[in-house]
Amino acid sequence: MKILITGGSGYIGSHTIIEIIENTDWEVISIDNYSNSSEDTYNRIKKITGKDIKSYNIDLRNLADTECVFNENPKIKGIIHFAAFKAVGESVENPLMYYDNNINSLNNILKCQAKFNVPNLIFSSSCSVYGNVEELPVTEESKLLKSESPYAYTKQIGEVMVNDFIKVNEGLKAISLRYFNPVGAHVSGLNGELSTTKPNNLIPFITQTAIGKLECLTVFGNDYSTKDGTCVRDYIHVSDIANAHVLALKCLLNGEIKDSHDIINLGTGVGVTVLEAINAFEKVSGAKLNYKIGNRREGDVASIYADNKKAKDILNWNSKIGLDDMMLSAWKWEQNLSENNF
Ligand code: NAD
Ligand code: UD1
Repeated sequence: MKILITGGSGYIGSHTIIEIIENTDWEVISIDNYSNSSEDTYNRIKKITGKDIKSYNIDLRNLADTECVFNENPKIKGIIHFAAFKAVGESVENPLMYYDNNINSLNNILKCQAKFNVPNLIFSSSCSVYGNVEELPVTEESKLLKSESPYAYTKQIGEVMVNDFIKVNEGLKAISLRYFNPVGAHVSGLNGELSTTKPNNLIPFITQTAIGKLECLTVFGNDYSTKDGTCVRDYIHVSDIANAHVLALKCLLNGEIKDSHDIINLGTGVGVTVLEAINAFEKVSGAKLNYKIGNRREGDVASIYADNKKAKDILNWNSKIGLDDMMLSAWKWEQNLSENNF
């Protein structure tokens, strides 16, 4: 049985491919245009799993090219649609780039799902759809507030597109998974996040500071009303996220999902402050991190973490990897990257 992964050479896509290879007999096909990754990822996947991946260098905004993949692979039973741009700040600076890529790619994937009658879809959504929430933890029933960035808005629109599309296409099903803060790397340290630009997110910022690529980490504010004044987030290991995709697709394939489009949070349910993340990193790495307290970052919410009961109940999923191991895996990956050891 064939499964199409879009964005398969990216951070979460590549870990999901590894998880699929290690836990199923599905044949994976990947589409990526390497706008934020490189074909080398498939070599890293091979090093970990021993398997070659059939891959297509295609921009999903091109419908004709995308259709070719489905024509060549008539037995695709599921699509996991990761491909998108994801940098919040960049989306504020260049909104049309985000609307163009994230919306048109999804539109073409949905067209192909209908045209080639692919029964199952998983859509990568984000906790950013909740906006600046006040009630915690957030459940899937929490009201979606105004999005804080064009990126977040593309995810709100994406969920609506999937919903409206599934409603009028009988027999097709979808799950939108709302990821909280995916972090870490494969436990082997042989695959992780490879950003082509300066990191935007906390954990790569921490590891790149510790290795000496960056001089100093700035903690964005310590005057929030949280336990130590720094922001709270729900960090979740990327392999736990990947595993949830395998379980979600299995549920869809086995007809275990009641709603034709379901929405599920993926978080650990545990809120961690920036200083707690730094302390965990220092403990497992033995490195002293050069950091300072700076101003708040515009657009940051003080606290957000998930109610993950639905993922536990419906997918029979649980996060397995704790904060220390998230940090350790990210650190191993950073060290391997700096030594070109992968
Ligand atoms: P990533 O950038 O590492 O991977 C995305 C991949 O999609 C990249 O390899 C990129 O080259 C590819 N891609 C982008 N546009 C494309 C196009 N038009 N055609 C073909 N390929 C294209 O990002 P990621 O962290 O793996 O995120 C995967 C998904 O999860 C995204 O939809 C993202 O918005 C969502 N998400 C990520 C996070 C996070 O913190 N990483 C959090 C919530 C949601
Ligand atoms: C944001 C988005 C999320 C998106 C994710 C991936 C929002 C609300 N969330 O998450 O949807 O999927 O990016 O791009 O828009 N921090 C520092 N110093 C740094 C970097 C970060 O103190 O140098 C702090 C931030 O203030 C924040 C925490 O670390 O409190 C995590 O930040 P980050 O990793 O950027 O993720 P989010 O902003 O939570």
